[in-house]
Amino acid sequence: MTENSSSPANALITARGLGKHYGTFQALSGIDLDILKSEVTCLIGPSGSGKSTLLRCLNFLEAYDEGEVRIDGQLVGWQDGKASPRKPVSATKLREQRRQVGMVFQQFNLWPHMTAAQNVAEALVQVKGLSKAEARDKAILALARVNLRDKADNHPSALSGGQQQRVAIARAIAMEPRVVLFDEPTSALDPELVGEVLNVMRDLAADGMTMVVVTHEMGFAAHVANRVAFLDHGKLVACVPPDEIFRQDPADPRIRSFLQTYRERNVV
Ligand SMILES: Nc1ncnc2c1ncn2[C@@H]1O[C@H](COP(=O)(O)OP(=O)(O)O)[C@@H](O)[C@H]1O
Ligand SMILES: [Mg+2]
Repeated sequence: MTENSSSPANALITARGLGKHYGTFQALSGIDLDILKSEVTCLIGPSGSGKSTLLRCLNFLEAYDEGEVRIDGQLVGWQDGKASPRKPVSATKLREQRRQVGMVFQQFNLWPHMTAAQNVAEALVQVKGLSKAEARDKAILALARVNLRDKADNHPSALSGGQQQRVAIARAIAMEPRVVLFDEPTSALDPELVGEVLNVMRDLAADGMTMVVVTHEMGFAAHVANRVAFLDHGKLVACVPPDEIFRQDPADPRIRSFLQTYRERNVV
């Protein structure tokens, strides 16, 4: 399972034998997954299958209790070695590891009393130690990448949900992470606002950003993902190019029945 399965040279994140319990409930088990540099990996699967848990284990927002997650070979969250039980890395080390990973959630969590630019600049000042002027310049550049240069001085209350989520994406990419994890970034949006967020994500992908995206947007998974990982009951059923998931008769019955509900709605 673990030490023996090698990962491709262009793997940024490698999970091996990854498992996670909540009490006695096993939310994830035996996950072997490689996130390749400059690729988009979409995570799909039924509600409760462990998609969010998997995403959160990748940057130790959830402490996994079996197996390992490595970013560029470095074990995330736990001290490397044979100690049992494992000991967590120091808070400083964990912050350093997490800095490599950006996150975008379903809820945008912007500060209501700050403008878009201030929301993006905040962590650049607090975490990266930039001056206010440097941070604003970087924030403006990040907002331009999500097509919101002209909204830099608006407060969130003066932005649509789609615009707020694009600010949240700008906030993540301004930190220059090596990978951005998205957990259902469009699920809280009115349908007419979903497209603008997905377009921004597609642009980031085209620029070579490494992305892991939990989504129910099957069109995005089918057309933008390099690989689609399908989770069911905490297990990784498949991690394959989208064609193999979205073909008319996917090999695995669990994938077939999951996609059936989307087919009935003519989504894929
Ligand atoms: N903090 C938690 N405590 C207990 N159970 C949890 C917790 N978070 C998630 N779970 C359970 O773990 C399973 C996977 O959850 P989750 O990763 O959120 O699934 P998904 O994102 O695919 O909907 C679900 O059965 C859920 O109820
Ligand atoms: Mg979830």
